[in-house]
Amino acid sequence: MLPQEIVRLKRDKIELPPAQLLEFVAGITDGSVSDAQISAFAMAVYFNGLSRNETIALTMAMRDSGDRLDWSDLDRPVADKHSTGGVGDNVSVMLAPIVAACGVAVPMISGRGLGHTGGTLDKMDSIPGYTSQPDNELFRKVTREVGCAIIGQTANLAPADKRFYGVRDVTATVENVSLITASILSKKLAAGLGWLVLDVKCGNGAFMSDLQKARELARSLVDVANGARTKTTALLTDMNEPLASAIGNAVEVNNAVDFLTGAHRDPRLEAVVVALAIEMVVSAGAAADLTKAETMVRQVLDEGKAADLFGQMVTALGGPADFLEKPDNYLDKAPLIVPIKADRSGALAQVDARAVGIAVVELGGGRRQRDDTIDHCVGLTDFVPIGTKLQKGDPICFVHARTEAQVENARQNIFKAIEISETDVAPMTPVIERID
Ligand code: URA
Repeated sequence: MLPQEIVRLKRDKIELPPAQLLEFVAGITDGSVSDAQISAFAMAVYFNGLSRNETIALTMAMRDSGDRLDWSDLDRPVADKHSTGGVGDNVSVMLAPIVAACGVAVPMISGRGLGHTGGTLDKMDSIPGYTSQPDNELFRKVTREVGCAIIGQTANLAPADKRFYGVRDVTATVENVSLITASILSKKLAAGLGWLVLDVKCGNGAFMSDLQKARELARSLVDVANGARTKTTALLTDMNEPLASAIGNAVEVNNAVDFLTGAHRDPRLEAVVVALAIEMVVSAGAAADLTKAETMVRQVLDEGKAADLFGQMVTALGGPADFLEKPDNYLDKAPLIVPIKADRSGALAQVDARAVGIAVVELGGGRRQRDDTIDHCVGLTDFVPIGTKLQKGDPICFVHARTEAQVENARQNIFKAIEISETDVAPMTPVIERID
């Protein structure tokens, strides 16, 4: 069928059979469908939606538009996590080795920062020598021998999504639950996972700011992934403030190392990491129930097994052999580390997490343009959680910057992003609900 006919059917709210969606996606991949036709199709879907069956068919067609990884030679279940993106969200860095230490292989294909949200790949790139884009052979070797490998996309995974997303990005058609679902899942499912756990963020620093929208996205992701035969569950987690107390790249890796070694664990971050790890371990069948999974997760953390695997993964991918023991010797440090002090006493009542993420981008820790280079050493640390009682002069966080002007800009941004109240404020609940 001609692409314009497929667009016409969707424009007229007619349900498309899988074969037509497959044909349209094949045309996106081989270039026979034009950008104008992709854009018209995206806008028709934006207004008229896709049914669950159409979304499953679109997802599977995009999943199959390039390579599909096969892990059937591994002797363990294979699982991964996907987060819809947050601020101070370094969960993946600890989650992969924790879950691997529990006997589940985690070949984690992660992304770069998007807008105000950070990307795991950019964080891992702060480790000198670490090869975040290994060839397929090394990726498979590290996953098999260590149990986990955090890398960026190497294989030709879901090329249809790459082109489709590029057109959506510049035609105001990103914000549609079916299109987001197909886009996210096509890449994850092409990675050949047996099990997937989704961390759907909800709040002012998330892609979905309100609970109902986040729930809708989580429900769509879970139903479509399961419909495409990858067992998937989701947790809705809070993103109304940074998750870790560190926001940036090298600073988040440092925070993750402290978490793994037990030197310091931010309580909100710990709640989310442990909940996601339990979910992955149970769903992949490595523990019989939630209680047994929690015992395993806490044990691999307390006994240092997860930390050890993280160190092994870093070394196997080209990083320093003693990175885990001496991260400070390797992570780039900013020349200026300056506290931002509360200008009055009270409780930290609100944080605009999106604005905090943007403050880090302005420091150079994220990209303004797609091809910008990241300054790995900049960022924020010791960001206090909502509910913290502050005396005038207490630090709200520390800015890591290269220049005084950057410090001043960050100070202004942080003051605009927070509210201090005279009355006590309850802390936010980090894990909101589970969707299966
Ligand atoms: N992330 C993706 O990969 N795709 C979307 O459509 C939105 C967020």
